[in-house]
Amino acid sequence: MDSPLVTQLFRQLFRSHPACQSRRNLAALSSCIRDGRRTQSHQQRRGMASGHGRQPVERGAKSKLDDSETNWQQRTELFSLDMTDEYKSYPTVTAKELRSRRERPRKVKMLMRDFIEDSLYNPHYGYFSKQVVIFSPGEPFDFNALRDEPAFHAELGRRYTEFEDALDAQKPDPTRQLWHTPTELFRPYYGEAVARYLMSNYVMSTYPYHDLIIYEMGAGRGTLMLNVLDYIRDVEPSVYDRTKYKIIEISPSLASLQASRLAESAGHAGKVEIINRSIFDWRERVPSPCFFLAMEVFDNFAHDVLRYDLATEEPLQGAVLIDGRGDFHEFYEPALDPLAARYLRVRHAATGGRYRLPYSSSRALRWLKGHMPFAPNLSDPEYVPTRLLQFFDILEKYFPAHRLLTSDFHTLPDAIKGLNSPVVQTRFERRMVPVTTPLVHQGYFDILFPTDFGVMEAVYGAVTGKLTRVTTHEAFMRSWAYIEDTQTRSGENPLLSWYTNASVLVTV
Ligand SMILES: C[S@@+](CC[C@H](N)C(=O)[O-])C[C@H]1O[C@@H](n2cnc3c(N)ncnc32)[C@H](O)[C@@H]1O
Repeated sequence: MDSPLVTQLFRQLFRSHPACQSRRNLAALSSCIRDGRRTQSHQQRRGMASGHGRQPVERGAKSKLDDSETNWQQRTELFSLDMTDEYKSYPTVTAKELRSRRERPRKVKMLMRDFIEDSLYNPHYGYFSKQVVIFSPGEPFDFNALRDEPAFHAELGRRYTEFEDALDAQKPDPTRQLWHTPTELFRPYYGEAVARYLMSNYVMSTYPYHDLIIYEMGAGRGTLMLNVLDYIRDVEPSVYDRTKYKIIEISPSLASLQASRLAESAGHAGKVEIINRSIFDWRERVPSPCFFLAMEVFDNFAHDVLRYDLATEEPLQGAVLIDGRGDFHEFYEPALDPLAARYLRVRHAATGGRYRLPYSSSRALRWLKGHMPFAPNLSDPEYVPTRLLQFFDILEKYFPAHRLLTSDFHTLPDAIKGLNSPVVQTRFERRMVPVTTPLVHQGYFDILFPTDFGVMEAVYGAVTGKLTRVTTHEAFMRSWAYIEDTQTRSGENPLLSWYTNASVLVTV
């Protein structure tokens, strides 16, 4: 599948015809992606089907600057425009400044993390503001009655179709973004495993001196909250009496879905508070001991992009210029902004210098490669989780007695080129369409990053001073789930064998 062509069509589709969404363009896009290869794997991301992209990333212009200035742009694209003058004259904006804007910006530049954050989170055109539906399978799967894993997969596919047919009957939408998460697929067993972890750690640590206070950041449909509270109520009423559950949710539509599901579920209403806010806007100090849950939320936190000068090993930070037509151009500057610089310092100190870099450690090899025809002057990109560092600052400052429980992907299939690079994907006519660059029409693409749990654990420890343990998703479930609940007749157990690319970190 020709991924840039898809990207281009999407941009054309949504830029030139934002209102009418021309049928002709949709048909062209549809036939273009029809041949996308479908993959089925036990490595999960959020969509049901996927295709593959192969082409190089659209990147900034070939520079016309003299040699002393060539670091500003990667020397690989031969025929693209030189936008250096625009880069010098256009104002710099941030995602925060763009929040009040209803139109995608033009004739501006910004750091890559601001571009990603604006694309995902802008309240008016961002991906989270309107595009996302989280799949619910309806009744929980009866795993014990299913023959084996393929039978589970087939049943899941059937329910996916049913779910989407029902949505289409209300309002057809070829660009509907539909996700699934383990919370939903393995409901209620996944939530029950989390509840067992919370209850037993609460009982062993702060019970009876403190209440059981649970914060959940990014609660999706609210399913984890309902499953955790149901379980605590049924199994340990005395703990339930002392339980408070608070959701911090950025999406207004998901926050209201959580509220209406809570209202339907007789009983828990007095226990739950839903706070419709980004965690990055949190300003209240919570001195009490609490558990802080974050399931599949880090992956959307904006990252910065760095490339390294292959001769000096100095990092350069990526910025994006948006021209007057809404096209994107990528630039690299040798001066790092304070947050990226701090991330590199903290990472280096926290890991004792043990982390991967996107270039060979051998100078000789780099020199040789650098003298090949058309060799780039900078390394491949590395995406660094600068927003995650700010999230740890928030935990440290406002939740000093928290214990974190977080699960996320440690690797993702179909990621774009680079180290720690994201998957950039959209869903069109019920198919996942991955593309090869994050520089795509803002708001229509999910941009999700893997988490390097080794580095994250070190950075979290350095910022919060807390000790942690990292396990695989499977190991966590083996410890806390009743795995017989999710076993098929053949003995295969999707709760354990799916999400092999996910890990769990807990504060100990
Ligand atoms: C992939 S969904 C996961 C939902 C749920 N945790 C689950 O596992 O089913 C990510 C969730 O995080 C929320 N979210 C993303 N960024 C956030 C932020 N900065 N602050 C609060 N919530 C956020 C999204 O709106 C969504 O509810």
